[in-house]
Amino acid sequence: PPNPSTGGKGEFKPDYDAVRKVVEELLESNEDYDDGSYGPVLVRLAWHTSGTYDKNTNTGGSNGATMRFLPESAWGANAGLGDARDLLEPVKQKFPWISYSDLWTLAGATAVEAMGGPHVPWRPGRSDYALDQFVANPDGRLPDGDKDAKHVRDIFYRMGFNDQEIVALSGAHTLGRCHADRSGFVGPWTNAPTTFSNLYFQELTENKWRKKKWNGPLQYEDKSGQLMMLNTDMALLWDKKFKPYVMQYAKDEEAFFKDFAAAFSKLMELGVPFPEGSVAATPAPQK
Ligand code: HEM
Repeated sequence: PPNPSTGGKGEFKPDYDAVRKVVEELLESNEDYDDGSYGPVLVRLAWHTSGTYDKNTNTGGSNGATMRFLPESAWGANAGLGDARDLLEPVKQKFPWISYSDLWTLAGATAVEAMGGPHVPWRPGRSDYALDQFVANPDGRLPDGDKDAKHVRDIFYRMGFNDQEIVALSGAHTLGRCHADRSGFVGPWTNAPTTFSNLYFQELTENKWRKKKWNGPLQYEDKSGQLMMLNTDMALLWDKKFKPYVMQYAKDEEAFFKDFAAAFSKLMELGVPFPEGSVAATPAPQK
């Protein structure tokens, strides 16, 4: 069959910009949802569908969209992501030619940019596995928020990231919040959880953090009690190899945007068998 991602003369040419547009329209379609935007949960869907990648076995990753199925859909780490998948279902119905795996990642890239972040290079080419076409990923491939720097490195080195990329990716926590009924943690990292910026790094370095006294899981809070950090966030500040990148991104938003876009794009491409000659970066859309 003709490859729908190549287009060409007389062939069906999928319009990915039309998909982006519909996703953008959905972002603030329900002002009662969380902080008024589905953007953060869409970014989290793109990350969790990709973050199962293991470079040693070349398994996991966004290809396949295996989070549609049990057991992955019911992993504790994926609690709440049903909201994001449900939101995108009508988009899939409107553009049936796009794979779920391309749609979920494109929606994440679109959300970052729509919330004021950098353009994230994205290309199509993922396909969806049928239920009998793959071996389920083992649980435990995504990180736990109450753990330390070693855990963070174990998880992200397994995907093929270095320390600088780990810190850049973590800056996504400038978006969204923790939900007691999803992860057990509570609160946002910043006061502007629907705007993509380097505020997370500024809060991490400039605010004062102390252990939250409560019956819930280990987390940190600022003096106001409104903002939070996970232990894995604090670990970036405490680890002497992570810290220089934290300091740099707190001061230099442009460097953060550039490094985040590259690392997030790489994350969403892990393990995807793109056709030879396909280029890693789509050009920024003309404005
Ligand atoms: C939310 C953990 C890395 C993007 C969360 C939540 C936890 C968490 C516990 C709260 C979930 C909830 O209760 O709804 C971690 C840990 C990480 C990590 C332990 C690494 C050590 C990342 C990365 C990205 C990311 C690499 C993206 C590049 C997000 C976003 C949210 C979020 C956007 C907000 C979701 C929402 O508001 O619904 N993360 N995360 N995280 N995470 Fe991470």
